Amino acid sequence: MKKKTIPLIPPHKIPVYAIGLLRNPLKAISKMIGLYGDIFAMQLAKNSNIIFVNHPDFVKHILKDNQDNYSRGKAVKQSAITGLHELLGNGIFMSDGEDWEAQHKLLKGLFSVTAIEATLPTIENELIGLIKKWENEIKTNPIVNIEHELNLLMLCIMLRTQVSAELSFDYDAMYDALSGRMESSSVKALFMFQLKAFLLKPLGIKYQYTKHKKYLETLNAIADTLVEGLVEGKYKPTGLFQLLLADYQLQNTTKEGIRDQFMNFLFAGFDTTATAITWTLYSLAANPALQQQVKDDLANSIKKDATLHLANRQLPLLQMVMKEALRLYPPVWSYAREAATDDVMCGYPVPAKSIMVISSYALHRHRQFWPSGDVFTIENFEKENFKGKNFAYIPFGQGKRMCIGRALADYQMQVIIGGILQAFTLETLSAKYPGITANIIIKGEKPISVRISK
Ligand code: HEM
Repeated sequence: MKKKTIPLIPPHKIPVYAIGLLRNPLKAISKMIGLYGDIFAMQLAKNSNIIFVNHPDFVKHILKDNQDNYSRGKAVKQSAITGLHELLGNGIFMSDGEDWEAQHKLLKGLFSVTAIEATLPTIENELIGLIKKWENEIKTNPIVNIEHELNLLMLCIMLRTQVSAELSFDYDAMYDALSGRMESSSVKALFMFQLKAFLLKPLGIKYQYTKHKKYLETLNAIADTLVEGLVEGKYKPTGLFQLLLADYQLQNTTKEGIRDQFMNFLFAGFDTTATAITWTLYSLAANPALQQQVKDDLANSIKKDATLHLANRQLPLLQMVMKEALRLYPPVWSYAREAATDDVMCGYPVPAKSIMVISSYALHRHRQFWPSGDVFTIENFEKENFKGKNFAYIPFGQGKRMCIGRALADYQMQVIIGGILQAFTLETLSAKYPGITANIIIKGEKPISVRISK
């Protein structure tokens, strides 16, 4: 194949784009794609390339065809200044090769049909609690900040199903520490660091990133107490902790290994699902006729067979709504990989150590593959329309490093969204769509709230 050249962003434009990336990375990346096309590079220093790609062929190359050459863990470590590697340690998210294979083999047991179904009583219990709480609250104030409420719900479900059902956790404190930690590990923080380091270097000053260390200390203290309690048999563990305790007793893992995996689950396993549920509910609030159709579908399906649990119902309409919400609002909106060796990707040379950035947010709105662009259109997921789009639609990633928790997420989403829609009707507060921004996870520029009625 003929060698092609990756367009380079002119160096004098870098500060402008860096500021844009700081303000709103979603908008900035989309704007850069509009200007430079589906592949372009930013050179921050000699041998320090960031290559942005926005085409299914490149996605396929990086995440599948030549996936062993592109490491997520190394990309995160290269941006070690943001401290994400300190949070995640050597857990599944960061590992590669045989180490990853062993961790994946162990953890995948948590996502079997039986293991997923075992989480249902907890999901139901917490959901009933939330519905009761909202029923009470909306008597005086019908406006609910669903983004925050669902984050706390999913954190609670995750801790009760994967750590222990008999411990009491301070969900608010944990959520605040985690959000603070995530914020300082975002693309925003990374670019802020790069920019400051770049500006201070000529003055001989080496910029150090120390912000938000206190959040990590809080999370480490929580993790240490939980791990000590686990190995000393002070409480009955569930899910992940039950699995890791057995592994520890076989001397296959250490206390540090348990801590790392716990942090990886905190990082990947609840706000992703909470965000997906939030945007699905918001999209239904913004499309009242579709919301009614989904409600009717739920009611009809229950009429047909009242004994079948919501979790086990075939609800193709709700599934299409969830998929479309994940297209427009993919919680994990960007992927980073580091190239291990020099490579050629669809004719383009990729130097070793390049950081490859894929924005699923931009890819999912690419007009060539998604003519409906920014408009919520569930027909995108009719079989014939979706055909051939596997690498243009990547809310859960692709290749072997695809989300290990996707079946659990899908299950939880159907039960929780279905349960909420059976209890309430949702309306938006204004005709204008809320602004979207992102740290590591997509979120509303202002917290996403809706009006709720019985
Ligand atoms: C709607 C909800 C979710 C979304 C959108 C989501 C998305 C993703 C994506 C895009 C990746 C791959 C990132 C990359 O390739 O760089 C990923 C990986 C991962 N996710 Fe999820 N996720 C969700 C729910 C969950 C849940 C419920 C869990 C666990 C309880 C989980 C655990 C993980 C783990 C451990 C990885 C790393 C897998 C590996 O490297 O082998 N995720 N997720």
